[in-house]
Amino acid sequence: MMDVGRHPNIELLAYSEVEDISGYVGNFKARIRKKARYVNENECTSCGDCVVECPVVVPDEFEMGLGSRKAVYIPFPQAVPSSYIVNANECLGQNPIACGKCIEACEKECIDFSMQDEIINIEVGSIVVATGMDVYDPTALDEYGYTRYDNVVTSMEFERLISTGGPLEGHLGRPSDLKKPKKIGFIQCVGSRTHDLERGNPYCSNVCCMNTIKATQYLKDNYPEIDSTVFYMDLRAFGKGFEELLMRSKGNGVHYIRGLPGDVFEDQTTGNLRLTIENTTANRLEDHEFDMLVLAVGATPATDTEVIRQMVSLSKSPSGFLKEAHPKLRPVDTPTKGVFISGAAESPKDVRESVTQASAAASRAGILLNKSKLAVEAITAVVDEDLCKKCGLCAPVCPFSAVLWEKKQVARVTSAACNGCGTCAAECKFGAIEMRHFSDQAIYAQIDAMLEDDPMHTVVTFACNWCSYAGADTAGVGRMAYPPNARIIRTMCSGRVSPEHVWHAFKKGAPVVLVSGCHYVDCHYIDANRSTTRRLDGLWDGLEKVGARPERLQLEWCSAAEGGRWQTIMEEAERKLQNVTVEEVEATRQALVEAKIPGPRNPRPKDENQPADYVCLRCDHEWLGIYNSNTERICPQCRSNSIRWLKGKKVPA
Ligand code: FES
Repeated sequence: MMDVGRHPNIELLAYSEVEDISGYVGNFKARIRKKARYVNENECTSCGDCVVECPVVVPDEFEMGLGSRKAVYIPFPQAVPSSYIVNANECLGQNPIACGKCIEACEKECIDFSMQDEIINIEVGSIVVATGMDVYDPTALDEYGYTRYDNVVTSMEFERLISTGGPLEGHLGRPSDLKKPKKIGFIQCVGSRTHDLERGNPYCSNVCCMNTIKATQYLKDNYPEIDSTVFYMDLRAFGKGFEELLMRSKGNGVHYIRGLPGDVFEDQTTGNLRLTIENTTANRLEDHEFDMLVLAVGATPATDTEVIRQMVSLSKSPSGFLKEAHPKLRPVDTPTKGVFISGAAESPKDVRESVTQASAAASRAGILLNKSKLAVEAITAVVDEDLCKKCGLCAPVCPFSAVLWEKKQVARVTSAACNGCGTCAAECKFGAIEMRHFSDQAIYAQIDAMLEDDPMHTVVTFACNWCSYAGADTAGVGRMAYPPNARIIRTMCSGRVSPEHVWHAFKKGAPVVLVSGCHYVDCHYIDANRSTTRRLDGLWDGLEKVGARPERLQLEWCSAAEGGRWQTIMEEAERKLQNVTVEEVEATRQALVEAKIPGPRNPRPKDENQPADYVCLRCDHEWLGIYNSNTERICPQCRSNSIRWLKGKKVPA
C-alpha cells in the first residue's frame, strides 16, 4: 500500500466509491465519489490528539468487533493515507457542531466539518476489478454455537486475537474471561463445500486449510504448551511449500482428526466447549473438550461485487464471483474488452495467487494501453441507417452496451465495444442490423440448402460457436454415436438466432428445429442467451397459435465438455423427428403462410437479374451489381462472400 501511495504514476483515491462507469475499451469514463473525510489528509500528522478527546466509542470493524475505536479514527494500521477520518454517522453532530472536541484538540487545525463529498470524473483506457472477498457469516450454523458461546470464534476473529496489533496486543486470551486457553479446536469447512445453500456454499474456499495450518504453527511457535486439534473433511494443502508446512504442524504435535463435529455444548461453570465427533479414520466416536473453538469460515463474494459487475457488464459464476473470459487461455480477461479481474474478485485465493493474478492483470492492461491502435473483432454488428426505424429495441439487449441509441435517432454500434454475439441483430424486427460474417443472408441460405433434399429427415440445428458446437465436436472426438439427421448452423451465440430464422425453417418444411447454446452462466457474451430463452418462449406460444406442437422447437444448453450431453440431445431430437408426420409439417407450413408470419427481414430484390446495390460486410465496399439468386456474390474488393443488399440506396457511380 505504501509503495502504491508513493508511486508517481498511481493516483490513489482512498475512501472513495465508483458510482458509474460508461464507455468502452480505451475510452472508459468513471464517476467517482470521494467521500468527505472531515480531516485534511495532507495536513494530518496522525498524532492522535483528536482520538483522545473524542467521546464516541464504537466497535472496531477491523478488529471484527473485538476491540473498539472512536468516531475519529484510522481504518486500519497500514491505511494509506495514514490520516484520520471522522465517521459522519457516528459523530455526535457536525452541522451544527455538537461537541467539537476533536477540533479543539487538533493543533494543526486539520479538522474541517464543512468538507463535502467530491465528484471526480476520470477517463481511463482500461479497468482492473479487484473487489476482493468477504468471509462467511456462520450465524446460520447454530450447532457450533457461534452466536451463543463467547469462546467460539471465527478464523478472522482468531487472527485478530493472536495479532500483536490486535485488541489483546498479541497476548492470547479467550474472549469470555481473557484466560490463556490450554486446548484449542479448529473446525474446517465452515460454510464451504455444502450443498445445503442455507448453510453455506458448495465451493471450496481455497484458503481456510492453509490459514488453519498457519495458525496452529503460530501457536506451536509462540505458545508450545497450547494443545491444538484440527477437525477436517479433507486437508487441501496443495501449492509450493504447503504440504511441508502441514507436515511440520503435524510433527510439532498438532492433532488432525478426520471428521466434523455435530453439536457443541458449553460447560456453564468453566466456559469450556464440549463436542462429540466421529473419527472416520479410527472409526470411533470421541468426546473432546476445548477452551476455545475456531471456525474456519469460508469466503464469499465481496458485498459490492454485483454493483460493479453490472456497471462494467461482467459475467459471474454460480458462486457469485466474477467470471473470467476463459479459465485457461484468458484467466484475467473478462468478456468486456478492456476490463480485467484480479484476486479474490474472481474466486477465493491466497495472497500469492492474488499477487500473481494482479501482476497478470496489470500487464494485460499495460499491453492494451501501449497500443496506438486497437484491433476490433472481425465479427461486429452494422446498422443500416436506411432500414433503422429508431425504435431502440436493440440497445438494451446488447450485453456490452455497444449499441447506442437516443430517442428518435438511428441506432449506432461502437465497433470497439461490440463482441459480435448478434443479439441486437436477432432483436431488430426490421432487418436493420447485420452481423459481419454471420449475415442473415448466409443463415437463410444454409436453412434453404439443408431443407432442399429430404427435409423430413432433417433436424435444423442452431449451435453456438463456443459451447454447443464445441460440445458436438467433443461428441465426435469421443466417438459418441448419435443420429445423423442434425444439420448444424453455427452462430457465435444462441442469441444470434432470430424468431424469423426459426419461422423460416418451419416454413421451408423443417419437422424439428433445435436451438442450442451455452449453459446460462457460461454464455461467452455475458447473458446474451437469456434473450434466446425469451425469444423461444414467444416462438413456442406462436407455434401453439398456429396449431403446431411446440415440442417441435427444442431449446438445449450444452457445454463444450459435454459430448455425452450432446449425444443425448441428438437422440431426443431424433425421437421428436420420428413423431412428426408429413401432414403435420405441411399443416404448419400452410398455417404460417396464412398467419403472415414475417419471413426473412433483409429485403432481397424481388426479380432476378435486376440491378442491386451491395455492401461488403467485411470491408464496407459498396457497388452496383446484378441480383441473381444462383450466382455466388463475392466482394470485388476483398473477395469476401459476406455481403448483402442495400435497399433504397444508390451507390454513387
Ligand atoms: Fe453460447 Fe452465448 S455464447 S449461448
